[in-house]
Amino acid sequence: HDFGPGEGLAPLALPAARAAGCPFDPAPGVERARREEPVTRATLWDGSSCWLVTRHQDVREVLGDPRFSADASRPGFPFLTAGARELATSTPTFIRRDDPEHARLRRMLTADFMVKKVEAMRPEVQRLTDGLLDRMTTGRSSADLVAEFALPLPSLVICLLLGVPYDDHEFFQDRSRLLLSLHSTAEEVRTAGDELQHYLSRLAEAKRREPDNGIVSRLVARDDLDSEEVASMGRLLLIAGHETTANMTALSTLALLRNPDQLARLRADPSLIKGAVEELLRYLSIIHNGLPRIADEDVTIGGRTIRAGEGVLCTLNSANRDEDVFPGGEGLDIGRDARRHVAFGFGVHQCLGQPLARVELQIAVETLLRRLPGLRLAIPFEDVPFRHDMGIYGVHALPVAW
Ligand code: HEM
Repeated sequence: HDFGPGEGLAPLALPAARAAGCPFDPAPGVERARREEPVTRATLWDGSSCWLVTRHQDVREVLGDPRFSADASRPGFPFLTAGARELATSTPTFIRRDDPEHARLRRMLTADFMVKKVEAMRPEVQRLTDGLLDRMTTGRSSADLVAEFALPLPSLVICLLLGVPYDDHEFFQDRSRLLLSLHSTAEEVRTAGDELQHYLSRLAEAKRREPDNGIVSRLVARDDLDSEEVASMGRLLLIAGHETTANMTALSTLALLRNPDQLARLRADPSLIKGAVEELLRYLSIIHNGLPRIADEDVTIGGRTIRAGEGVLCTLNSANRDEDVFPGGEGLDIGRDARRHVAFGFGVHQCLGQPLARVELQIAVETLLRRLPGLRLAIPFEDVPFRHDMGIYGVHALPVAW
């Protein structure tokens, strides 16, 4: 249905507030849009407006259609904050470029994240997981699961893959936090981005002199990339590689603790873990603010015409709750076939690291539940600090006891 002028919902101000709603659910305004006006108008921090696309089918259409560009340098490209604009435009990487340039750069990394390659890393990921849990639990009965487990695990893994010294984790985790905070100013994002870029350029130079088996070293050896490009790609992988999985791990643990029937089911039958992780990805959809695109031509989506030059945000969390695809989707059901979820996006930019994220999540959640049968939240649920202020959703800390 097409709404004429003056009809339909008032434009939704983004980022949409979750307010009093359930912290695992999409913001009420986004859910309402999906039910009542699935392709709707929204307004952004700078007073500009864009389209919000909220249904599963429509999100896949936009993300799968080359007439929608991911090139953040185009006038009218939608950004959630001034900081997000700074991040996407200052040192652009292939996530915000279009084919053929996007494909050229992405192809340099596909072998590293292929299912077969990543599956072979299971023993190493398991060893790191057990090591962290040994350290966390020895002589203690409580800890912050984010600081001691959920964050260090993917951080260690991506450092190993890239050839980045994990000893520098405080430096790059601090900078990542600033880059992803919805409260950072453009200035703060620029400084943090420059510092990370500089760090990775220096690392790239060091690898040129002393090569190792890591991805940075391999990229440096190519003659079709300069050190700045290597640093940009390294930066993307470093941030995407640990912030996302870390938040999924902590939020998944919390969601299971809040759904004791599902937790009991998974404990009783650990072979459900793969499906459970897919369902948690669907249910939690941590990239919750919408993937940005801009229309190159007029395109009709869900009955509405999106004009050339207009920005679009595709909300993955609302798409993943779409009742037409996931009946009863507002609830967590680890036995559900959730494989059609779009938590990793869709189309040519679909997450490069998803095989790695899956292996990490499966091992982290399975091992945590197996080793800590008495795992419980150590603070009232109402006091859990959710990341309403961040581009990647999750919890800032998760005090647990066992
Ligand atoms: C892209 C989600 C883990 C690397 C994406 C996109 C999403 C996403 C939604 C699409 C962005 C867009 O189309 O605009 C997630 C989630 C993760 C996760 C939910 C964990 C649970 C990882 C990991 C890595 C990674 C572990 C590893 C190194 C990337 C890269 C891209 C990407 C490089 C850009 C791909 C491209 O533009 O072609 N991710 N990600 N991600 N992700 Fe992930």
